[in-house]
Amino acid sequence: MANIPNLGDLQKELKEFFAQKYGQNVTFAQPEAEGTDAGPATTEQPVNIQFDLKPEELEAYLNEYVIRQDETKEILATKICTHFNRLKLPDADEVVGNIKNNIILIGPTGVGKTYLIKLIAKKIGVPFVKGDATKFSETGYVGGDVEDLVRALVHEAKGSIQLAQYGIIYIDEIDKIAASGTVIGPDVSRTGVQRNLLKLMEETEVDLQAPHDLASQMESALQFQRTGKIERKRINTKHILFIVSGAFAGLEDIIKQRLNQQRIGFSAVDRSSHVENGSWLRHVKAEDLIQYGFESEFVGRLPVVAVLHPLSKDDLYQILTNPNSPVIIGKKRDFQAYGITVDFDAAALRLIAERAYDEKTGARGLVGVCEKILMRYEKKLPSTDIAQFRVTRAVVEHPNQELDRLLTEAAIARFESRFQSDNGIRLALDPEARAALIDAARASGKTPDALGRELFKDYGHGLKLVQLEALTVPKAAVEDPVGYLNRLIREFYEKQKDGSR
Ligand SMILES: Nc1ncnc2c1ncn2[C@@H]1O[C@H](COP(=O)(O)OP(=O)(O)OP(=O)(O)O)[C@@H](O)[C@H]1O
Ligand SMILES: [Mg+2]
Repeated sequence: MANIPNLGDLQKELKEFFAQKYGQNVTFAQPEAEGTDAGPATTEQPVNIQFDLKPEELEAYLNEYVIRQDETKEILATKICTHFNRLKLPDADEVVGNIKNNIILIGPTGVGKTYLIKLIAKKIGVPFVKGDATKFSETGYVGGDVEDLVRALVHEAKGSIQLAQYGIIYIDEIDKIAASGTVIGPDVSRTGVQRNLLKLMEETEVDLQAPHDLASQMESALQFQRTGKIERKRINTKHILFIVSGAFAGLEDIIKQRLNQQRIGFSAVDRSSHVENGSWLRHVKAEDLIQYGFESEFVGRLPVVAVLHPLSKDDLYQILTNPNSPVIIGKKRDFQAYGITVDFDAAALRLIAERAYDEKTGARGLVGVCEKILMRYEKKLPSTDIAQFRVTRAVVEHPNQELDRLLTEAAIARFESRFQSDNGIRLALDPEARAALIDAARASGKTPDALGRELFKDYGHGLKLVQLEALTVPKAAVEDPVGYLNRLIREFYEKQKDGSR
């Protein structure tokens, strides 16, 4: 969007447009200027929340999908269940000073942050939106942006403001709006984003109509034409649960430094070296986040901190073998779309896990590694009649070579089955004959089935003469098809002669 007109300009333009179209006697609403009755946020009855999940049930559900991250699963399951169950208390709206359990998730890339939240949103069935904090800073912060997330909740709630007011807003890459303390320009806007988010996380009312949303402004203008009233709808954010997350690169150093300073005199460095790499984050405190570049008020609105851990090779393997694994399920479905069944050997999965681990992008690497191995299979196999294949260790190690092998095998099978349907005779090449056919095909630049059809073109007729219904084809027949068939025929007639004597 290049040029978003401000509300004033917009109204002026709309006014001109209406005047042109309908004449001067058509008046135009001035929502801001005329203090038309905006009314309270909502006058509907409080929503009847159908929520009776208990923390342990939600945790058990997460365990079915998410490998490790036990502590985070526990925290999320507990805090989210409590949040929604508490809203059912009859006086939920009245308690003054309610502290909302907004949550911050900290952990490296690809270890389950987004995945956990998506699973939870799906399970508990409240409206859920996901935003990305980088979007806010990129635009240099436009007032509407963070509030758009709240409006999106209404959309997710199929228009119900009531339901939306009990939704979850998840903001990823929150670390990207930390002020770095060195640059001036972006820092100002980042701090600005933090302040605006802060307001939402606490309690504020958001206009359902975005000032930059032309369509809804138009709609309200039309509504004023019809009714002479302006109905302003607002969404209260008091009960909306906010979950933010980020990888927080560099946060470990801050924590390390603080711990080392605290331990001075206790041979700090020696001790700290015992802390395993990646587990510093466990010790994160609000002050570390503040030093990282967050306003203390912002950190204060995020009382629940959960840290996710890097995944080991074995964790990655577990993710692959998990029956709910979206990686393997997704890949299987890709092939299923062409009617092809794929299976994975355990040894292949181990190797995929190892490769993904080396990419250092957590479980994210798994998808990439699988894609890289199976991409050409996904392209080639749909045009063959291969309906099934196994991903073995060999496939992972030499995908191209194995694919070629698979394709030639399929070409031979195609030749055999076509021969049978054309002639009613079952041809089966023995292993040596197959190898010979493949070699000959490669040498002549033909496909094995094309070459097979050429070499054995007389066999349909010939084998009928000798009254054979099936033939196991040896290497000799591939090397000299005519000679071999002639021998068969000769032998057949000699036997006949012997028999008639
Ligand atoms: N602990 C885990 N158990 C099972 N699957 C996982 C786990 N972590 C990640 N995955 C898989 O990897 C995918 C990517 O993970 P996810 O989107 O949760 O990463 P993230 O932690 O949000 O990373 P980023 O910081 O890059 O956004 C998930 O969709 C899921 O399939
Ligand atoms: Mg994520």
